[in-house]
Amino acid sequence: MASAMAAARAFHEADSGEGSDKARLYSREPGKAIKYHCNFDLYQSPVANWRDTLYLRMAPDPPASNDLPESCRDVLFEYAKQVKNLGDRLFEVLSEALGLEPSYLTDIECNQGQIILSHYYPPCPQPELAIGTSRHSDSGFLTILLQDEIGGLQILHEDRWVDVTPTPAFIVNIGDLMQLISNDKFSSVEHRVVAKNAEPRVSIACFFSTHFHPASTRMYGPIKELLSKENPPLYKETLVRDYIARYYSLGLDGGQKTALTDFRL
Ligand code: OGA
Ligand code: NI
Repeated sequence: MASAMAAARAFHEADSGEGSDKARLYSREPGKAIKYHCNFDLYQSPVANWRDTLYLRMAPDPPASNDLPESCRDVLFEYAKQVKNLGDRLFEVLSEALGLEPSYLTDIECNQGQIILSHYYPPCPQPELAIGTSRHSDSGFLTILLQDEIGGLQILHEDRWVDVTPTPAFIVNIGDLMQLISNDKFSSVEHRVVAKNAEPRVSIACFFSTHFHPASTRMYGPIKELLSKENPPLYKETLVRDYIARYYSLGLDGGQKTALTDFRL
């Protein structure tokens, strides 16, 4: 965990001039597997965020090693592998929590896509006028998040923002697609990151989602085993990529789980 954070920090604190990894990777193109940018939703979201992001789509279809920035490639490949193992275990216990076979969620390939986002929140001179990451719930099935000791992450609990105190541990978020397939048994968590005039903040989020991967053709809807007359389906079926396209078209801060609401029956 410490080496992943150090490698992510090294990437973000490296030069951004001509010929640098940052310049080479700079893009907001949704389909691009490896990219670096500020505000993926710059033209959709009502508010710009005080944050830079390195985006790495690691699975399905892992990138070639030299597509990744040299400063962090070995460490982040290893990190992705370890976090995938943790994710697989979590999908087992979540399956059991739904009353299903432990392999259920991995059998339906919720663990097949893996996106690693390494965020960097530079010091903000007027934090009261800015936001690090706007209010949102994560789009995928599950997120495993690692944050440094700076703080700023908050979750919405009973209509109040609650600080998530930094500890050297993973934070696990239920994502929108998990809420959709569990037919609201699990609820995706709304969260945000406030801007600070402090040391730069580093975090690494691992999303289990195939995002825009063109070969992911499985449809996801409320799990049949969870449905009955008393528990009718609450959502339409969707491809992951159609859900993500809707989510991207709104950007963060589009309101209360707006993308998910659009898929409600
Ligand atoms: C995210 C996110 C929080 C953080 O990437 O979706 O909410 O602490 N990140 O950077
Ligand atoms: Ni998030």
